[in-house]
Amino acid sequence: MRIRRFRTGDEAALFRVYFTAIHEVACRDYAPEQIDAWAPANLDPDLWAERVRRIDPFVAESGGEIVGYADVQRNGYIDHFFVSGTHARQGIGTLLMNRLHRQARELRLATLTSDVSRTAEPFFARHGFRVVERRFPVVRGVTIPNALMSRQLEYAGRRPETAP
Ligand SMILES: CC(C)(COP(=O)(O)OP(=O)(O)OC[C@H]1O[C@@H](n2cnc3c(N)ncnc32)[C@H](O)[C@@H]1OP(=O)(O)O)[C@@H](O)C(=O)NCCC(=O)NCCS
Repeated sequence: MRIRRFRTGDEAALFRVYFTAIHEVACRDYAPEQIDAWAPANLDPDLWAERVRRIDPFVAESGGEIVGYADVQRNGYIDHFFVSGTHARQGIGTLLMNRLHRQARELRLATLTSDVSRTAEPFFARHGFRVVERRFPVVRGVTIPNALMSRQLEYAGRRPETAP
């Protein structure tokens, strides 16, 4: 297993991870109409490619197969965080989360935030995130409840000369 940066050409594999994570794992916590609105099978490939290139995620790869991906933006926002449905609960999410924390330290971020699904909430809680607000976003006409979660990063925002 290795974690690397996104490369052009990864887009379709990332869609498979996204789709299976939602349709095979998150489906336990949401109704079928919510799952279909969140991850429609006919999502425009060009729009998808543009989206994943823009967020520029880290990618988890095992034996040449992409099995997960997650990003952190320069403001500390985690936009996507997905592990393939057939690879859940094998520690891949934790490897990605650790990589995001390393990136956050390098960017000297003080806080990480994300809009977290019901499915991912225990995982984010396990990694030190707390619920800030419960939200009810409407996606393609369907309400898909989630929670804004955040985690403060100790020392990360301090200037080197003020760090202990
Ligand atoms: C949430 C997600 C990213 C976690 O990835 P993962 O690789 O399965 O996570 P890990 O194996 O590193 O899990 C680490 C720990 O987090 C907790 N955890 C992970 N998934 C959990 C779940 N579904 N329910 C309860 N706890 C969970 C457990 O404590 C787990 O440790 P354990 O397996 O020893 O009990 C993945 O399940 C996923 O993609 N889910 C569906 C899509 C989704 O909702 N993505 C997030 C959008 S905000």
